[in-house]
Amino acid sequence: MNTTTLPSTQRAGPPCPWRGLPLLRAMYRDYLGFTSGLQRDHGDVVAMRIGPERSLDLFHPDDVRTALVDHADHLVRWERGVSVLSQAFGQGLLVAEGDAWRRQRRMLAPGFQPRRVQGYAALMVDAAREALDGALPPGTRQAVLPMEDLFNALTMDVIMRTLFSSRAPAVARAAAQATQVLSQEALQEMFWPFSLPDWLPLPHKAAKRRALGVLNGLVDGEIAARRALPVEQAPSDDLLAMLLAVRDEDGSALNAAEVHDQCMVMFQAGHETTATALLWWAWLMAGHPEAAARAQQEVDAVLQGRDPAAADAQALPWLGATLKEAMRLYPPVAAIMTRRVRRPFELRGQVVPAGTLLRITPWVIQRDARWFAQPAAFVPERFLGDTSSQPRSAWMPFGVGPRVCIGQHFALLEMTLVAAMLLQRFTLHRVPGEADPVPRMHVTLRPAGVLRLGVGRR
Ligand code: HEM
Repeated sequence: MNTTTLPSTQRAGPPCPWRGLPLLRAMYRDYLGFTSGLQRDHGDVVAMRIGPERSLDLFHPDDVRTALVDHADHLVRWERGVSVLSQAFGQGLLVAEGDAWRRQRRMLAPGFQPRRVQGYAALMVDAAREALDGALPPGTRQAVLPMEDLFNALTMDVIMRTLFSSRAPAVARAAAQATQVLSQEALQEMFWPFSLPDWLPLPHKAAKRRALGVLNGLVDGEIAARRALPVEQAPSDDLLAMLLAVRDEDGSALNAAEVHDQCMVMFQAGHETTATALLWWAWLMAGHPEAAARAQQEVDAVLQGRDPAAADAQALPWLGATLKEAMRLYPPVAAIMTRRVRRPFELRGQVVPAGTLLRITPWVIQRDARWFAQPAAFVPERFLGDTSSQPRSAWMPFGVGPRVCIGQHFALLEMTLVAAMLLQRFTLHRVPGEADPVPRMHVTLRPAGVLRLGVGRR
């Protein structure tokens, strides 16, 4: 397979009558199905025009790298996405651009290096132990559980402990619910050219106002409590301590609004994504008992019944492969790496003009039979050993280029620890007679209904 020389194809695309409005409707109804169809029917580079908007969908990993790595400086995040997300995240790392983004990324990156992140393993393990030990009522050997609730509460607890050194499960649950409301509302708003004002007396606007109130109140309260503590009593090793202590090259600190906004970003970006990844992983493990048994044997052999530590992750290659394969089939951020071209650049010998909207959809790229044989099947083996037949960036759940997920080491460590501890305690089963979950795009990729699994003590 030659992935370095790409033919200079003419860009194709669907007809766009009525200024593309039927396409917009089809996209809104079923974004993933619509986008998969674009590649199937029109190839790797698909041009569309919807209203005044000219867009290109890129489906080849080499083209994705050309855009997001080689020409990262020519791109900014899609303004509509930024304007929707910044209602919750202010000007935090996720939505900032240019010099403001570079400054924040430079300041925060050291706090997310693998070595720093390993320092959070014990907190992650504490949160996982509490959630998993309480998952089944005492004395019960098995039950059918809504898994989303379990993982949402657990990953929110991890963020609360690592961000604020706070342990308040009820608060974590309220915060988890609030982020879900915001995520749902955000996706709806992204399909419209402007947001209706939040004060309108509409039920979903009221829910959004309440959700924002919960999260802002929580973050403000934690920051104020921390600032009020004498230095010697304040935790020095959580993410908030890092945000307050960090200094840029010129000695400047993050200002109060920046600290607040980063906390909001960590809340939303750092909890729902990881919960979603664990949710789909659990569903896949429940449906593939041999893969799950192999992971269980590996975990038992390495841990011998003790809690995992950060250093154990390397000794659990099969478990790691099941997690990677789950994020290939169900990438939590399935479709929102949308960028606006600010300065023209060349792609396949043709100029991509300024103003073009680029859309990159991991859901489609990661299910492409050219890079992943039997693309719809759960085959963790493909992540063991030599992966050189896959082009770089064919597996891209954390994104590509300078804006790659800053929390990827944090997330991978958390997922490995939680997955190992879950398998130490439980065996998962699908519930007979329940339909397979249908993935739906919110800001992350969630099942359309409630995903329940049988959870049995070992
Ligand atoms: C399985 C879990 C996760 C997945 C799949 C994921 C995925 C992603 C992706 C795809 C992006 C890039 C989006 C783009 O290019 O437009 C991103 C950015 C980001 N993620 Fe994650 N993420 C995860 C966990 C986390 C965690 C745990 C944190 C923090 C504690 C975090 C914080 C961020 C931030 C701050 C950004 C913005 C980075 C920037 O623009 O410079 N993420 N994430």
